[in-house]
Amino acid sequence: MFAARSVPRSLFAARPLVQPRAALFRRAYATEQKKIAEFKGKKNAAGNYTVTFIEGDGIGPEISKSVRAIFAAAKAPIEWESVDVTPILKDGRTAIPDKAITSVKKNLVALKGPLATPIGKGHVSLNLTLRRTFNLFANVRPCRSIAGYKTAYDDVNTILIRENTEGEYSGIEHIVVEGVVQSIKLITREASERVLRFAFQHAESIGRKKVRAVHKATIMKMSDGLFLSTAREVSKEFPHIEFDAELLDNACLKMTTNPNLYSDILLVMPNLYGDILSDLCAGLIGGLGLTPSGNIGDECSIFEAVHGSAPDIAGKDLANPTALLLSSVMMLQHMGLSSHGEKIQKAIFATLAEGKYLTMDLGGKATNTDFTKAVISRL
Ligand SMILES: NC(=O)c1ccc[n+]([C@@H]2O[C@H](COP(=O)([O-])OP(=O)(O)OC[C@H]3O[C@@H](n4cnc5c(N)ncnc54)[C@H](O)[C@@H]3O)[C@@H](O)[C@H]2O)c1
Repeated sequence: MFAARSVPRSLFAARPLVQPRAALFRRAYATEQKKIAEFKGKKNAAGNYTVTFIEGDGIGPEISKSVRAIFAAAKAPIEWESVDVTPILKDGRTAIPDKAITSVKKNLVALKGPLATPIGKGHVSLNLTLRRTFNLFANVRPCRSIAGYKTAYDDVNTILIRENTEGEYSGIEHIVVEGVVQSIKLITREASERVLRFAFQHAESIGRKKVRAVHKATIMKMSDGLFLSTAREVSKEFPHIEFDAELLDNACLKMTTNPNLYSDILLVMPNLYGDILSDLCAGLIGGLGLTPSGNIGDECSIFEAVHGSAPDIAGKDLANPTALLLSSVMMLQHMGLSSHGEKIQKAIFATLAEGKYLTMDLGGKATNTDFTKAVISRL
């Protein structure tokens, strides 16, 4: 029933340990450019980094507890600073409490549980507010097949970067006349350039040799056209990385029929396409309980699971903490703590591969607590 594959070495840093001379030269060339979104946090007197912790709603507290327990067992040099992000109204607009903002700005990194968003009314999405408050311009979403959970494909290994601040999520909507509404898709050269340059740099840092822009410039000739032409311009700064482009519909079709075609490519795209295509990738590896993400900004970055607050299973100890755990591994890699990240990741993958402590979403009977204990026993 379970895939008999070996445990992947690293979900995000698939770089070979020994690099050929040419690769080293290319890296030297690339590092001449300003590194976007480099982590600049400093250790405290006890030798630890402080990380802002947002527990979140629904299953948030349960899966957060699992992350804390596993980090403590792995002796990761992290101190958590919990903050409350219950929204406040400032000048009539949804805002994050000042204490939470100060904490993230001081620590430069946060781990966040899922936040529930009211549908069609109430406060603006807190997730959107966080992205705007900290200018988290890129959303990095890796999806890799997991040994121990059999899906239609055993060889999914996609890395997708989604522009996170504009496009269809600009929130500019108005009523033209009764029964007619208009929603504006905003694409700017500045935001496109920033996410595209980050995508090329990220491809370099994880050893992917090809970057592909996904678009729909055949229809949205001006907006997606600008994203695409900016991508072509930025690609010239990275002559050692192959660049091409693909229509969104082609990408969806090929991703669901032969995801292996994307194993050596880093995909980068405007906001909405990234949201949908990354969920599609998540479906290919077994669902939302397994997929991590990182929201990257120039100064601060926030790591979170792709899934929401799962109110249907909240408080029942049934949630799968893997997605938040893998997000915390991404966070450690971002902070330059890769060896701690690898140790935790290895224990997670080994637990999943054994198949004995799978949670309900993966067809198992284990609780969140059982799974967490099993991971800790492997550290
Ligand atoms: N980044 C975020 O904070 C974020 C993302 C998506 C949705 N949301 C919010 O979360 C709330 C609920 O959204 P939803 O129900 O559409 O999506 P959801 O992701 O919370 O749940 C979808 C389904 O997946 C299951 N699921 C999700 N995470 C799981 C896990 N870790 N382990 C086991 N099963 C899991 C749930 O039980 C549910 O059946 C909404 O208010 C939504 O706005 C927040």
